[in-house]
Amino acid sequence: MSVIGVGEVEAAGTTLTIKAGDVLTPLARDRAAERGITIIVSGPDAPASAGRASPSSASPRTQVSPVNLSDPGSPRSADARTLNSLYRRGAPLDPSLQSRPTRTSGGKPRAAVIGAGHVGSIATVRLAESDLFEEVVLIDLVEGLAAGIALDLWHDASIARFSTRIIGSEDMAALAGVDYVIVTAGKPRTPGMTRTDLTSANAAVVGPVCEQIARHAPRCVIVVVTNPLEEMTHLAQMRSGFPSERVLGMAGVLDSARFCSLVGLTGLALPSEVEAFALGSHGPEMVIPLSQARIKGRPLTDLITGDQLDAIVERTRDSGAEVVSLLKTGSAYFAPGHCAALMVTAMASHSGQVLACAVDPKGSYGIRDTRVGVPVRLGPAGLESVVELPLEPGELTALRESADRLRERINEVA
Ligand code: LAC
Repeated sequence: MSVIGVGEVEAAGTTLTIKAGDVLTPLARDRAAERGITIIVSGPDAPASAGRASPSSASPRTQVSPVNLSDPGSPRSADARTLNSLYRRGAPLDPSLQSRPTRTSGGKPRAAVIGAGHVGSIATVRLAESDLFEEVVLIDLVEGLAAGIALDLWHDASIARFSTRIIGSEDMAALAGVDYVIVTAGKPRTPGMTRTDLTSANAAVVGPVCEQIARHAPRCVIVVVTNPLEEMTHLAQMRSGFPSERVLGMAGVLDSARFCSLVGLTGLALPSEVEAFALGSHGPEMVIPLSQARIKGRPLTDLITGDQLDAIVERTRDSGAEVVSLLKTGSAYFAPGHCAALMVTAMASHSGQVLACAVDPKGSYGIRDTRVGVPVRLGPAGLESVVELPLEPGELTALRESADRLRERINEVA
């Protein structure tokens, strides 16, 4: 008896011959249906003919069974439990996940999220809802947690109208072949803590996680969310051994979004009509260059008084802590999860979007050898270029000072 997985289906031509008693995994069966592959069961007890899995049968509910599962005499009847278990409690993971190749031929990409806490769960929802991905793999060490969340989200697929398959696993091998990985694993802040207080606890998680990512998905792009953000992004690059273009820190997108939403509270414009970048650190050295902030093309500085703008910048800088102090048991997750997913969808959709991300600017803005939030153009394989905004001298100085502080902290971690 062999387990026939997606790998065998991908390697097959128009037919795939399996032996009586072989187990065809649920995902392999779906894939065969999608590709219109005829599955032939050979052997003494095999049924006379086997079904053709039609392309229109890709959905779990309508797929054509390649063998007669309802026939008690069928050699496959013993496997019916396995096949139908896709829709039952404890459905097994597709074993062929471990041998999946990285996308090469223009199909939909795959994404993964490490850590099924609040941020990871929200990121997973947003990725699934974008429907840009063939599948999203959610991984968490806690037994059943990722699988439970994945199943819960899949239940939402018919009303949220997405087809992205969601898989939950405790095994990092499920990352095989994914194109993008969001790392949320680690501890969140609680009231009174700074992000830097998390350094040693989260380094102990992020380091080994990134080694595993490099092992199972060596060509992926990593988006780091775990705090302290710039230090963990640097550590992720060191431990994965990836080029810095493929390891991005998520924070500037979040801080920019917070600023725009807080400007929206003035009533002058909708949050989505405000354009601004939050640069520098995801922390006290955050720099929001007001010279670059606009509402429908008009400079923000023409519309809002300096005092009010200073107050909004201050509140943006402390927004993470403000949420922590209200929640008491953890940190923000709706906006952070969405922002991490936004970076991945920008890459996967080739949108060419410019987003503030923590990267090594490699000389842009006169900054190098650190991790700092700067505007970058993202492409499918990660960072394409750093975008140099025409900052005012004071803003540029503040950005460079922020980069210097971050370099000191990063060197301590290294
Ligand atoms: C925050 C976390 C993500 O700012 O750092 O909410």
